[in-house]
Amino acid sequence: MARLAAVLLALASLAIAAPSLSARQAITSLTSAQISVFKPYSFYAAAGYCSPASTLAWNCGVNCAGANPAFHPVASGGDGDGTQFWFVGVDQTLGTVIVSHQGTDSSKILPLVTDADFFLGSLDPTLFPGVSSSIEVHSGFRNEQAKTAPQILAAVKSALSKFGVKKVTMVGHSLGAALALIDSVYLPLHITGVTFQTIVYGLPRVGNQAFADHASIGNTVTHINNKEDVVPILPGRFLGFHHPTGEVHIQDSGAWDSCPGEDNTSNLCTTGDVGNIFEGKTGDHAGPYDGVRMSC
Ligand SMILES: *[C@@H]1O[C@H](CO)[C@@H](O)[C@H](O)[C@H]1NC(C)=O
Repeated sequence: MARLAAVLLALASLAIAAPSLSARQAITSLTSAQISVFKPYSFYAAAGYCSPASTLAWNCGVNCAGANPAFHPVASGGDGDGTQFWFVGVDQTLGTVIVSHQGTDSSKILPLVTDADFFLGSLDPTLFPGVSSSIEVHSGFRNEQAKTAPQILAAVKSALSKFGVKKVTMVGHSLGAALALIDSVYLPLHITGVTFQTIVYGLPRVGNQAFADHASIGNTVTHINNKEDVVPILPGRFLGFHHPTGEVHIQDSGAWDSCPGEDNTSNLCTTGDVGNIFEGKTGDHAGPYDGVRMSC
């Protein structure tokens, strides 16, 4: 109970400190209590790299039962090759359904975000009914999200009805972060009466300005970037890509700074700090994020 109270208290103070849409918001550092709120979600994102058999049994080791022993798995899928791994389940301590997507290491994400074969395209109106065709996303991320969207939706609905929680949290790292961000637009179109939040790590740019604006509604997205990680500055803004609000940038000092606005160019935030692809470091992509490295 003490732990639950501490988490709730930390969440409440985080909500107060979270960036609002007000124009003159400063860049502020998170307290250690606010940073620690993210820890269970970081482990859920890391567990996205583990095989479906091990996330369904919740025996993947430190990232599974070691970090989040009260998790109830509901469904897992993907083959880690043509289709990224994913899992869905419930954390009753945090009071949320968890949807986690596998990421990729920097050798596989870099071709995806630098390859000119990919383009900005509209979302499939069958999966995204009513979403304006002016909202465009990276075609590779869009096609990957579409592969597992119906299975994940069914699993989230089943988890919500079985456990009676009222919140859905999407997590992921790298490519998994991009898939989680598209899920954050997709799932609310099909599920009502619950709240959604998205906590992702090493997020590349996923869509255009209209997509970033849409994903920023309600400030439900937090994307945490580690030091000089190059992935979050790709694909480039000159190609029409834009980040939503909610960046938290881990400085070289280890401070976690909350960056107001979309794609903030201050040199305390990733876009300003990692000026170009040559200044970026692929070695910072996997973390650590408050001690958590993004791999199984
Ligand atoms: C970036 O952050 C600064 C605070 O230092 C803020 O004044 C500015 O409006 C932000 N930029 C954007 C694009 O939101």
